[in-house]
Amino acid sequence: MLFHAAAGGVGLIACQWARALGLQLIGTAGSDAKCELAREHGAAHAINYRREDFVARVKEITGGKGVKVVYDSIGKDTFERSLDCLRPLGLMVSFGNASGPVPPFSIGVLGPKGSLHLTRATLFTHIATRENTQAMADELFEVVQSGAVKIRIGQRYRLADAAQAQRELEARNTTGSSVLIP
Ligand SMILES: NC(=O)c1ccc[n+]([C@@H]2O[C@H](COP(=O)([O-])OP(=O)(O)OC[C@H]3O[C@@H](n4cnc5c(N)ncnc54)[C@H](OP(=O)(O)O)[C@@H]3O)[C@@H](O)[C@H]2O)c1
Repeated sequence: MLFHAAAGGVGLIACQWARALGLQLIGTAGSDAKCELAREHGAAHAINYRREDFVARVKEITGGKGVKVVYDSIGKDTFERSLDCLRPLGLMVSFGNASGPVPPFSIGVLGPKGSLHLTRATLFTHIATRENTQAMADELFEVVQSGAVKIRIGQRYRLADAAQAQRELEARNTTGSSVLIP
């Protein structure tokens, strides 16, 4: 799979969880230091997408085949090129808009790119029932309790400094999870 922003809060969880499942995760991140962090947390490969062409690198890493799944929380800046990383019948999971919303596009493009599947995932659909929420929480806490996934808190802020936390997130200066302390 390809996972964008692999050194972020969700990203570092994904890197470790993929490793625990025996999956090869190719992460992207906005600096060499962040790439190193993603690799340390289990990414099989990491691409600095500020200076490398991530489509070309994914093709190179996968021997020209492309990946089965892309997890894209970046949105506008990466969406179209993410589709080009998929192998035929691959799945594009768009789950965030860090760079802005994905502009409207024609679903026709999914055909020639290999009959691709596309979903726009939101947490709220998945936690709509008590049963699903409990099942997902059980799975998460199992991997956390086993030590397979460690939640890396990259920075802590006083709640009164929430604006500063927001600015640092926007500036792409954070890694791992951020915690606001009341
Ligand atoms: N679908 C849902 O229900 C759901 C639920 C929770 C979170 N989310 C989404 O999941 C994503 C990850 O959440 P997170 O809390 O773990 O955040 P995060 O990944 O720690 O932070 C966002 C990262 O996006 C990257 N990025 C790329 N372009 C950016 C831009 N123009 N402006 C700002 N950041 C940019 C930056 O990493 P690099 O510098 O490495 O590029 C930044 O660190 C977010 O997009 C969030 O909205 C979705």
